[in-house]
Amino acid sequence: MKMWAGRFAVETDALVNDFNSSIPFDCRLYPYDIQGSLAHSQMLCDQGILSKEDKDAIHGGLNELLEEMNAGKIAFTPQYEDIHMCVEELLTKKIGDAGKRLHTGRSRNDQVALDMRLYTRDQIGIIHEKVRRFLKVLVDLSKNNLETIMPGYTHLQRAQPITFAHVMMAYANMLKRDVIRLENTYDLMNESPLGCGALATTTYPIDRNATAQMLAFKQPCDNSLDGVSDRDYCVELASDLSILMMHLSRLSEEVIAWCSWEFKFIELSDAFATGSSIMPQKKNPDICELVRGKTGRVYGDLNTLLVMLKGIPLAYNKDMQEDKEALFDAIDTVNMCLDVLVPMFQTMRLYKGNMLKAAQQGFLNATDCADYLTKKGLPFRDAYKISGSMVAWCIENKKTLNELTLEQFQSFHPLFEADVYEAIDLLQCVQARQVHGGPGKASVQKQIQAIEQFLESR
Ligand code: ARG
Repeated sequence: MKMWAGRFAVETDALVNDFNSSIPFDCRLYPYDIQGSLAHSQMLCDQGILSKEDKDAIHGGLNELLEEMNAGKIAFTPQYEDIHMCVEELLTKKIGDAGKRLHTGRSRNDQVALDMRLYTRDQIGIIHEKVRRFLKVLVDLSKNNLETIMPGYTHLQRAQPITFAHVMMAYANMLKRDVIRLENTYDLMNESPLGCGALATTTYPIDRNATAQMLAFKQPCDNSLDGVSDRDYCVELASDLSILMMHLSRLSEEVIAWCSWEFKFIELSDAFATGSSIMPQKKNPDICELVRGKTGRVYGDLNTLLVMLKGIPLAYNKDMQEDKEALFDAIDTVNMCLDVLVPMFQTMRLYKGNMLKAAQQGFLNATDCADYLTKKGLPFRDAYKISGSMVAWCIENKKTLNELTLEQFQSFHPLFEADVYEAIDLLQCVQARQVHGGPGKASVQKQIQAIEQFLESR
């Protein structure tokens, strides 16, 4: 028999039961559902709406139930409709009439809104911590590679020399913004919907401030219609996670390229790569490909939420039950990706020689060659043209700029002197870029310092 059976003459069709039931996925909310019920019943008692005996019975029963659920002793079967019905039914089975008093002045609508907020708040904390851990790994990689020269690319064409540290710090800055985005989402959603009731609060003299405080919310949300139907924070978190996944996916794309024989800048640990069933020589960066692939599914989750919400009038509508699988999937996916990426980065090996070799080919110092002449007084546009013609000559004659003799340099322009070799030396080209945000060692060290300060302040 359903809890709402009073108005109904015929039993729910089995198909409807399965279609309607959310317990297969909302069962993960049970700790939050119980936490909310503990606070609600405490407040009912404090307000004189519930007797102390009933409150004690409810608390005893809920805590027992929590233990049983934690121990995996409860089967979350579809007969329960959802986690809220399940908890209440099992509680009532345990403690009798007091269990039936728990739902006084409350609706499943504010209950589910509360559970989702409590769960989301916790998950933001967990992901926040994991992103910070990844940030630390990127900082360590930077510290160890301040002079590891590699090609910097634009259009995937070799452009100017940079260091591996500089690249890692680029991703560190993306992750820093991800951390801040998570914090902003947390701050904005940290209001309690409990007490909004089905849509219009209640006639009981409940104290919404008290439950908000017990559950560590900043305050109760200010409008009951909004409180039960607001899922902005689901969209915001899915959006934060989509952007985070976009960063992880771009980084993964780099790693996939770096692992190829065409680059061979890095090699993943055997423990974090996979083989082929037919090609004995293969070592594949599957993890990165999966992160890249799973990014699409998190975008899909965000889209599911946005589309689900766009057409529903106030206040609660059952469409909203669809918020769960989408948000849970985004959260689970991000958690998994971070769990595996962190140790993968900690264990990968860098082939610094290959990075340097790649940087030595492709005339990455052509800009510095032009800058050399500019610093000697030539207008930059003229210097650019001369440097370009030198590159063309070198390509024709299979040479690099560094291999030209001083006479050859001077045949392109008389301003060239012996100090040109130092000016176009790759390490020198990098170290000379000490501008704020640049790849020079001191500049990257400042970037590292900024990220470390950021991490310490969290
Ligand atoms: N399982 C529902 C959900 O996830 C709980 C709220 C149900 N409320 C209702 N009025 N049917 O949205």
